[in-house]
Amino acid sequence: MIDTTVSIIVAASKNNCIGRDNDLLWRIPGDLKRLKEITMGKPLVMGRKTHESVSNRRDGHPLPGRVHFAISRTMAQPDIDGIFVCRSLDQAIKDAETYAQSHGQNEIIIFGGAEIYKQALPYTDKIYLTRIHESAEGDAFFPKIAPEEWTEVSKEDHKTEDGLEYSYVYLEKK
Ligand SMILES: NC(=O)c1ccc[n+]([C@@H]2O[C@H](COP(=O)([O-])OP(=O)(O)OC[C@H]3O[C@@H](n4cnc5c(N)ncnc54)[C@H](OP(=O)(O)O)[C@@H]3O)[C@@H](O)[C@H]2O)c1
Repeated sequence: MIDTTVSIIVAASKNNCIGRDNDLLWRIPGDLKRLKEITMGKPLVMGRKTHESVSNRRDGHPLPGRVHFAISRTMAQPDIDGIFVCRSLDQAIKDAETYAQSHGQNEIIIFGGAEIYKQALPYTDKIYLTRIHESAEGDAFFPKIAPEEWTEVSKEDHKTEDGLEYSYVYLEKK
């Protein structure tokens, strides 16, 4: 069996804020394009709230070309292709790994939000972090990335047309 990499993808402010009122704080076109490139074809593991915030914009459907493993104690399995409700993080990771292996993928993506990032961090091998170079106010936060546990492999700086500075930071677990 091929080893499956567990990767987190996240955009976080300087103070690790990732969202407010179950929505994102930024929609940076370059970052959304990169997110699509990194995640296309791979199974996405996410909490019920993130799943709802993504699929409500698409009439209940998952992101195109990807499947959602939505973790929830309350949500019923919808009759929609590409959405799999799981009752625990462990189950979601196992099912996503099985899906990846049967679809020629060697990576599963932890897609958020705050509750799921916190629980999944110990099982994560890689982080695709978009670090926004400003502080933000919100109600969802990424956990602290302990420098003794993670190696920063690369960092690419960017700026939006209206001057928002951000970096693509790629981290691997030590
Ligand atoms: N900036 C980014 O990159 C990024 C990415 C993703 C999300 N976000 C943001 O993050 C926020 C949402 O995060 P959140 O922490 O509020 O919600 P979340 O992690 O998306 O979902 C939380 C829900 O997941 C389920 N859950 C969590 N742990 C579970 C477990 N161990 N077993 C079974 N079910 C479990 C529960 O669903 P039930 O209540 O149904 O049981 C819980 O209410 C939003 O603002 C969103 O926009 C930001």
